[in-house]
Amino acid sequence: MICSKIFNRKKPILIANWKMNVPAIEWLPYIIKLKEDMPKKEATIVVCPPTVYLSEMSQNTADTDIRLGAQNVSQYLDGSFTGEVSVHMLPEIVAFVIVGHSERRTIFCESNEIIAKKIKLVGDAGLNPILCVGEPLEARTKTLQATYLRNQLYKSLDNFTFWENLIVAYEPIWAIGTGNSADIDDINTAVDVINDVMIELNPKAEPFIVYGGSVTPKNIAMYKEIPGLKGALIGGESLDVQKFLKIIDIYCY
Ligand code: 13P
Repeated sequence: MICSKIFNRKKPILIANWKMNVPAIEWLPYIIKLKEDMPKKEATIVVCPPTVYLSEMSQNTADTDIRLGAQNVSQYLDGSFTGEVSVHMLPEIVAFVIVGHSERRTIFCESNEIIAKKIKLVGDAGLNPILCVGEPLEARTKTLQATYLRNQLYKSLDNFTFWENLIVAYEPIWAIGTGNSADIDDINTAVDVINDVMIELNPKAEPFIVYGGSVTPKNIAMYKEIPGLKGALIGGESLDVQKFLKIIDIYCY
């Protein structure tokens, strides 16, 4: 099943990152419910399940407004890389690829240099990379948020050229899975840095920024009011389809 890779950058986007959750017997009921109850809104709705579900899920979401994304991709195109998935194995079934999630950076030791390779491959393949950036608590405590983000962005976007496909997700590490969601000041600082760096790298770039980190149906309304944001990347609360539907309903017009 070949799907369109284009998404409307004028509409808000809500992305469910299931991470390594949702057992094999539970994804289909989730998708059926999402299809049935998805509010008719001007929005792009993306589900990023574990890679093994993608193929069958693409058949169940064809002819719907649900778009699919991968949570990760290899920095290599092919060869002897046990356990890896090449971007060339994804394009027919996904439109988005999350790159550089902080769990990949910290648990799997992915450097900015590795992420730069991955994001370039995703762009080359005509897919939309969702580049995650975000500072650890220590950097925030020392008010080094801007410096940290600047460095991550410059190094991760080294040699990148597919600006019209790029989504940048601001996901501060201290906010992920903790219940400590970022406030408006945190986000405004991050949005300013991301906008500045992108314009410095490419004056024609039109930044498309989303926020992730303890987003819930209760706090999503606040993020909707932040002018520099176009959507959210949701982990834990996206595992419950009712909560994901609620978030969509509140965020999108
Ligand atoms: P939580 O929504 O569980 O904090 O996770 C955010 C995240 O990491 C999305 O990629």
